[in-house]
Amino acid sequence: MPFKSYLEAINKEFENHSYGQNPVELYEPIEYIMSLGGKRLRPLLTLMSANLWLYNWQKAIKPAMAVEVFHNFTLMHDDIMDQAPLRRGQQTVHEKWNINTAILSGDVMLVAAYDLLLLVEDRHFKQVVRRFNKTAAEVCEGQQLDMVFAKKKDVKKEDYIEMIRLKTSVLLGFAMELGGIVADADAESVDLLNEIGVNLGIGFQLNDDILDVYADPEKFGKQVGGDIIENKKTWLLLDALEKSVGSEEAKALEGWLKKKKFDANEKVEAIKAIYDKLEIKAEAEAEAKKYFRKATDALNKLAVSEDKKQVLRLFAEQLENREN
Ligand code: IPE
Ligand code: IPE
Ligand code: MG
Ligand code: MG
Ligand code: MG
Repeated sequence: MPFKSYLEAINKEFENHSYGQNPVELYEPIEYIMSLGGKRLRPLLTLMSANLWLYNWQKAIKPAMAVEVFHNFTLMHDDIMDQAPLRRGQQTVHEKWNINTAILSGDVMLVAAYDLLLLVEDRHFKQVVRRFNKTAAEVCEGQQLDMVFAKKKDVKKEDYIEMIRLKTSVLLGFAMELGGIVADADAESVDLLNEIGVNLGIGFQLNDDILDVYADPEKFGKQVGGDIIENKKTWLLLDALEKSVGSEEAKALEGWLKKKKFDANEKVEAIKAIYDKLEIKAEAEAEAKKYFRKATDALNKLAVSEDKKQVLRLFAEQLENREN
């Protein structure tokens, strides 16, 4: 696998990285979530992007780590907001410890991300922090919209796409852009990297929503059905609401969305059965494919040699077909 050397380099740096010692109650949950690994997509994207111009891609490791630490901070808080019991096949931080711990350890992870960003070269620093701040604020905006939409009635598919662009995609865009910046790429290429990452991110979040319903729980590492339980307005739910207008499925869906007390398994199975009947999964997959294609189109425009791009093409392909 061509990503192996990047991944090993990141993991080795994380093993030697210290977030702080005292009080242990603050830092232990950080060690815990970071040690659970995950796919490390975002730092891989930073390193692969930097390597398009920079032979010595190791120079991009600290900024790549900053993005991953920030991502893990958002997961720690996201799991509180989504009442998620599982992350990467293990208990979430707020379940293993408690909500206040997950809030505060998350907060200090954001600071840890800035500490890592401080290590970029001075001439890149302002641009990097300006773009990071914009991205981080957008992630919060997307997360807020995600919560607003769960309680809102007429959410449109375009609203959903904008919500996931904010909560998920801009960070993949930034991860790639950051690699370009630290590698001194030209401004046009840096913009294209962002465009590739954002489109990959939209396809990626659409797949995440599909996996939330259809994944093999062993491989997924998260609670299957979590989005259904929480009434998340995923593309699947919006498509089902749209396609079922006037039918008995519409009534059934509305009924489940309104129910305050329910058996979680029963709700998940019932809504999944409606999705199956309306053949929602294939449509959601086709929608995700559109964005992976847009990412490839942007990659095609990037002015670097085809053999350098190859690794990103392969990565995008694996991302599109992921099972966790
Ligand atoms: C999970 O991201 C949050 C989403 C944006 C869907 P990942 O699927 O990249 O999570 P890890 O880091 O690999 O666990
Ligand atoms: C997460 O979206 C986006 C962020 C963490 C910012 P989800 O809530 O779908 O992510 P998972 O499924 O919990 O990983
Ligand atoms: Mg979540
Ligand atoms: Mg969420
Ligand atoms: Mg999800």
